Amino acid sequence: MLAGKKIVLGITGGIAAYKAAELTRALIKEGAQVKVIMTKSATEFITPLTMQTLSQNQVYIDMYVPTQKYDIAHIALADFADAFVIAPATANIIGKIASGVADDLLSTTIMAADKPVLICPAMNDKMLANSVVQDNLRKLQTHGYFIMESGVGELACKTQGAGRLPEIPEIIEEIEAMLTAKDLAGVNILITAGPTQEAFDPVRHITNLSSGKMGYALAAAAKRRGAHITLVSGPTTLAIPKVQKCIQVRSARQMHKAVIENYKKAKIIIKAAAVADYRPKECSKEKIKKTGKQMTIMLEKNPDIIEEIGKNKGNSILVGFAMETQNLLTNAKEKLKKKNMDLIIANNLCQEGAGFQTDTNVITIIDKKGKTEKLSKMTKMEAADKILDRVRTLLKDKGGRSG
Ligand code: CTP
Repeated sequence: MLAGKKIVLGITGGIAAYKAAELTRALIKEGAQVKVIMTKSATEFITPLTMQTLSQNQVYIDMYVPTQKYDIAHIALADFADAFVIAPATANIIGKIASGVADDLLSTTIMAADKPVLICPAMNDKMLANSVVQDNLRKLQTHGYFIMESGVGELACKTQGAGRLPEIPEIIEEIEAMLTAKDLAGVNILITAGPTQEAFDPVRHITNLSSGKMGYALAAAAKRRGAHITLVSGPTTLAIPKVQKCIQVRSARQMHKAVIENYKKAKIIIKAAAVADYRPKECSKEKIKKTGKQMTIMLEKNPDIIEEIGKNKGNSILVGFAMETQNLLTNAKEKLKKKNMDLIIANNLCQEGAGFQTDTNVITIIDKKGKTEKLSKMTKMEAADKILDRVRTLLKDKGGRSG
């Protein structure tokens, strides 16, 4: 989502300045254009040549270097940017911006900035805890600056505490959030994700290949768009997205309980989880030992969670998934109707780039009227945004009341 976005990255003089190199690479990889401003102190920690090579652009340090073209550097940079990021941000730059001091290229550029500014503080834990620094951060927040929370862990001075530069993927996520229109602001969304596991003894279970990637992408995308997320997740190896509420479950019955307890508050319910339709009838307390040549496990039906919600969904919008290997559209349309969904997202497991485990998906969105929107292969994050665009349209049609 950062493709084509113009980012001005300000680097100030702290030991974490070397991480700005990694941040620049990550931004370029996302397709952003990056121009770097370094303070004089920053150049003591990392060379302008490194930043120039990685950003593929001239690095700006001095206010008063005559340029060939007649443009005033701080104004030109302020005009160029879609967003500003200061990483790492020292106590000094935070204090300067908070006090309205503009005495070098970075501080003057930030003063001239009329686009979102993200400040990523990184310093010694005692400096960060200093009430003056904390007052400055609060003041910046009230003036509309975006402030990231510093990471906690080992600091350069070998102490443990808060003051680490946030991790690069977190900074990227924050920049994306800053640049995203908040078209789902305040809307409560319940999302289910991942597989379920149905145990038949303490060490074995029946499950499926769902990775949870699609549901987690939906949670992250909706959060970025301002929604209030409750994520009910089956077991996955993914990092939990920073949502307002996450309930981790194992079995279909646990997922059922979590969803039933939470769905009434949600205006939108998206069931991306691959719920096991059946569970073993018995779950042995002890590990089952091998005996004869064959073994039979009796299965019994799990509750169909979405079907139950569909019967009592009131004014909310219900979105389900259909993962098929044959008769994609027919099966998906049948499921949409049977389970009273508003939208169903169909994908064919046999298609390259679609389905479980992959980072991409090939989806078809079908609505109640049978309108079918077939989308090409895209990342699960892009697919999540396409699904949310359709949900947003339905929400508007229903009057747009936040729930
Ligand atoms: N679903 C659910 N509870 C279940 C089974 C499925 O909530 N016990 C939801 C899934 O989260 C998905 C939708 O129903 O949104 C369709 O799931 P899918 O497994 O494709 O369909 P089933 O109705 O189970 O049909 P089948 O497995 O026979 O294809």
